[in-house]
Amino acid sequence: MEVKKIAVLGAGLMGHGICQVAAQSGYEVNLRDIEQRFVDNGMQMIKASLQKFQAKGQLTEGQVNEILSRIHPTVDLKEAVSDVDLIIEAVTENVELKKSTYREVDQYAPAHAIIASNTSSISITELGSTTKRPEKVCGMHFFNPPQLMKLIEVIKGAKTSEETIQTVLAVAQKMGKETVLVKKDCPGFIVNRILIPALNEAVALYWEGVADRDDIDKAIKLGLNWPMGPLMLLDYIGADTTLAIAEILEREIDPKFHPHTGLKQMVKAQLLGRKTGKGFYDWTQK
Ligand code: CAA
Repeated sequence: MEVKKIAVLGAGLMGHGICQVAAQSGYEVNLRDIEQRFVDNGMQMIKASLQKFQAKGQLTEGQVNEILSRIHPTVDLKEAVSDVDLIIEAVTENVELKKSTYREVDQYAPAHAIIASNTSSISITELGSTTKRPEKVCGMHFFNPPQLMKLIEVIKGAKTSEETIQTVLAVAQKMGKETVLVKKDCPGFIVNRILIPALNEAVALYWEGVADRDDIDKAIKLGLNWPMGPLMLLDYIGADTTLAIAEILEREIDPKFHPHTGLKQMVKAQLLGRKTGKGFYDWTQK
């Protein structure tokens, strides 16, 4: 099946970037969030990002306007999904919220449409089972920021068809991304299964007072050649998202993945990172 039109559900940190990548790759995109202010905020972030590319001479003003004209913001779910071939779901990482979204999408989307989830850790099989089209449900996991990160993990649920996987791989390729195939639906897939325990250990080192924040980040930047240290990356991803993934790994794979008290405290204190202006770093000035 050839995908011509895409709906992106959720205009937040990931959703806005995915929408932008899709529009930059020539797709018509419906961008949907539950409230107008979230949609507006997503559009602002897209404009800011496109401006960065324009300032660097990678896009002309005309191209920026064309890309923006391919994006159709809305708060109406039915309107967002009723005329598309692919729905990329990037709503908040909450199982019940995602499941109710899938039930609604299944009702309104055309029979041929594929639903791909950008979930970091929720079971694709479980999401697929809430629809009457589990063979058309798969994972399509982007990395933050989607505009710059090259990888997409494509995840096969228990009932996902080969045709669905091939269609999604083709879309990822048209978006200029590299892909890896996760053959079995398992929490954390490849990247987060490895990353989240590493971030959790960075929090542990910090809370135990083994080293200062800057030295923990410097050690990993220079010792492992990461582009940013783990505590800064955690601020980037969000302590709430990191905790949610750690809890799923702990529950579904092994208790060894249990999140550190320090991470839980950060969430309780709403020190979530960039999204609340403060985490391990102060983002209010940046
Ligand atoms: N859109 C367009 N351009 C952007 C941008 C955006 N959203 N964000 C940054 N840029 C541009 C900047 O303008 C800058 O351009 P110049 O070099 O021309 O000045 C360039 O990208 C580099 O940005 P910065 O100087 O601000 O920062 P940086 O050098 O640290 O690079 C980065 C930014 C690419 C994000 C880099 O820091 C990086 O790779 N960090 C690690 C990101 C990462 O690990 N992501 C995965 C997170 S895990 C995840 O997402 C999965 C999950 O499920 C939790």
